[in-house]
Amino acid sequence: MTNFDLPTLLRAHRSIRAFKPADVPPAMLDSLLQAAILGSSSSGNLNTYAVIETRDVGRKTELFRLHGEQEMILQAPVMLTFCAEARRTRDWLARHEARDNFNNFHGFLVAAFDAMILAQSMALACEAQGLGICYLGTTLNAAPKIAHFLELPPGTLPVTSLVLGWPDESPEPRDRLPLAAYLHRERYQRAGPAEIDDLYAQRDQRGLQRYQSLSADARQRWAEHGITSLAQFYTSELKYSPVAMQGISRELLALLEQHDFMNNG
Ligand SMILES: Cc1cc2nc3c(=O)[nH]c(=O)nc-3n(C[C@H](O)[C@H](O)[C@H](O)COP(=O)(O)O)c2cc1C
Repeated sequence: MTNFDLPTLLRAHRSIRAFKPADVPPAMLDSLLQAAILGSSSSGNLNTYAVIETRDVGRKTELFRLHGEQEMILQAPVMLTFCAEARRTRDWLARHEARDNFNNFHGFLVAAFDAMILAQSMALACEAQGLGICYLGTTLNAAPKIAHFLELPPGTLPVTSLVLGWPDESPEPRDRLPLAAYLHRERYQRAGPAEIDDLYAQRDQRGLQRYQSLSADARQRWAEHGITSLAQFYTSELKYSPVAMQGISRELLALLEQHDFMNNG
């Protein structure tokens, strides 16, 4: 066993977006995924997830395209797409003349949570071995096309992806808010405006510096969009625009319908 304790590993986490060309041997990956599966709780122990491994350069290039051309996908030797997977469970039910189920929105949520828990276990298993990982939220943005490309059947949908490989960068840790922002003792206490300012003070300042130091080009784009704060950047056309998020939401709901997850009675 490597010499680390889990809190130390967690504190050392950084998303990695630059990778060396060295391979991650398939046997190593299998062993890490096996450990992640053993180490992940799952609703009813039904393990309603599937993982699609992509190594083939041509197929990775297609995923690169679908994921908004994030360069790290081309660099990383492996990409894993974690899917909410009720298909296999439902086929097993059918084999035993059991009633069909998990073909509803609740079934999707449970399967999606199972898949996310597994993804995070895998992320930690990788980091414990010195590998670097980065999640890809674009899995949801392009879920219909990714589902088609990966030939996912009804009852199976992509929820997140990890790129992984040997790190070729050592980024600074990213900010988190103070613990008080996240932890509520006994009952939720909504922060007032002054507390919000306090909780976000460091993030506002460092985030602004971080994004503005990127390049003159980035600064110019901020100016063009009239962005003067980190908060405005987050919901601008440059990051999470409301119109884009609404469009993705509608597509996801339609996809749930097509993939037989919306039999809600
Ligand atoms: C669900 C999820 C989706 C993410 N999607 C992306 C992505 O598409 N591209 C990217 O560069 N980083 C992505 N990230 C990484 C986050 O930007 C990163 O975790 C965050 O900025 C905090 O940095 P850290 O992981 O280094 O602490 C994602 C993270 C999560 C959890």
